[in-house]
Amino acid sequence: MLLDLTGKKALVTGIANNRSIAWGIAQQLHAAGAELGVTFLPDEKGRFEKKVRELVEPLNPTVFVPCNVQDDEQIETVFKTIADKWGNLDILIHCLAFANRDDLSGDFSSTSRGGFSTALEISSYSLPALAKGAKPLMMENGGAIVTLTYLGGVKVIPNYNVMGVAKAALETSVRYLAAEMGPNNIRVNAISAGPIRTLASSAVGGILDMIHHVEEVAPLRRTVTQQEVGNAATFLCSDLASGITGQVLYVDSGYEIMGM
Ligand SMILES: NC(=O)c1ccc[n+]([C@@H]2O[C@H](COP(=O)([O-])OP(=O)(O)OC[C@H]3O[C@@H](n4cnc5c(N)ncnc54)[C@H](O)[C@@H]3O)[C@@H](O)[C@H]2O)c1
Repeated sequence: MLLDLTGKKALVTGIANNRSIAWGIAQQLHAAGAELGVTFLPDEKGRFEKKVRELVEPLNPTVFVPCNVQDDEQIETVFKTIADKWGNLDILIHCLAFANRDDLSGDFSSTSRGGFSTALEISSYSLPALAKGAKPLMMENGGAIVTLTYLGGVKVIPNYNVMGVAKAALETSVRYLAAEMGPNNIRVNAISAGPIRTLASSAVGGILDMIHHVEEVAPLRRTVTQQEVGNAATFLCSDLASGITGQVLYVDSGYEIMGM
């Protein structure tokens, strides 16, 4: 079966809690047979670590490491740990983003220099930064990298503001990485998910209104679940998607095709 990921080693970033899209992806990759590695965002009191460790325990991750993508040393340690423990890597899931709450409502022109650069550093630069670490571990057998984006990177969505700019940079990074890594049979794709209530999305002003709007006008008359995004990510990481790279796949109940 081409969707069987048995024997594949997958690193999943961006799990914060049981609402995280990355959690939906990790569950589906595990169900398809992949061996999981999980990163968490370290904080001073270790709260995230404990929460994420307990959540992912049923999926038996064999790598569990801190990774703040603003810290090059932490990124290096992640891939050194994988090289030591696994020897190679088949799948990288990039599922993280951040912008200051102040920059996710009001006038886009009010975005501060610092807020702009933080949003782009964490939400966009982190993809090539992690891909650089993954590349040597994927060179021999090929691999798949999947990131998460949103329609706000292509169209103006109220309050998405600087995160829209970050997602545009992320989607362009997908294309440049796909072109660079294709000759090594490393595929790089993005999923553009419909709005889902999560920790990150709750920082975007009016997210509930957006979800209600999608429920009214999207062809499927509902928004999507973490599990549906997880299914699409699993497909993109599997041999069923062996001819697909550099793409943005909309998993949004069809909302993107509508003119309203
Ligand atoms: N929820 C939505 O409606 C939606 C829609 C489309 C795309 N997305 C994208 O999905 C991805 C996951 O977001 P989510 O909605 O599941 O929210 P989430 O809050 O569950 O996940 C965001 C993750 O980013 C991590 N993070 C933040 N700063 C970091 C840093 N410096 N280093 C490492 N990790 C860091 C957090 O720890 C968290 O795990 C994001 O890229 C988001 O933009 C979300």
